[in-house]
Amino acid sequence: MRVREAGWRDLAAMAELEARCFPADAWTDATFWSELAQRPRRTYWVAVDETDGSRLVGYAGLDLAGEVADVMTIAVDPARRGAGLGGQLLEVLHEEGARAGAGAMMLEVRADNEPARQLYSRRGYAVVHTRPGYYRLGPGGAAAVDALVMRKELVRP
Ligand SMILES: CC(C)(COP(=O)(O)OP(=O)(O)OC[C@H]1O[C@@H](n2cnc3c(N)ncnc32)[C@H](O)[C@@H]1OP(=O)(O)O)[C@@H](O)C(=O)NCCC(=O)NCCS
Repeated sequence: MRVREAGWRDLAAMAELEARCFPADAWTDATFWSELAQRPRRTYWVAVDETDGSRLVGYAGLDLAGEVADVMTIAVDPARRGAGLGGQLLEVLHEEGARAGAGAMMLEVRADNEPARQLYSRRGYAVVHTRPGYYRLGPGGAAAVDALVMRKELVRP
């Protein structure tokens, strides 16, 4: 598996994987265009399987806003989960954040997203804030799920 910086040519495959990873609220092609257009402040990374025609199997994005870098998104092909790929992509974001001079990473995750919470907490993120009922679900926003804001300190190179 190789992780490399994303480019315009990855956009269609990223949007296709996004639709499978976030069926309820997937980013559109236009959102990805807008995100990539904000480089170098935004930086996106893709994991490609070189044994399978350079198939795109994961991606992650970062906002480099100065002292704190924000994880914009991270996703792994459902068929490739649980094999360390999410961790690999997250480490790339940490390296990139530290290289850009950030002292900490922050992100937001749904409280009911157990795999993502595991991924983050095992890599040093701690919950610093809860937004009660932040995610409205179902018809008319009947059900609500908390958002957890997590933070990890970085070691600058
Ligand atoms: C979150 C996600 C990126 C993790 O990707 P992954 O490649 O499976 O991650 P890893 O294999 O590196 O596993 C990360 C950790 O989570 C744990 N984990 C994996 N799947 C899990 C599951 N179903 N339930 C609980 N923990 C799980 C693993 O034990 C692992 O811990 P370790 O690194 O100490 O072994 C992936 O599940 C995904 O794409 N989910 C849908 C999109 C999403 O929710 N993104 C996050 C938005 S905030």
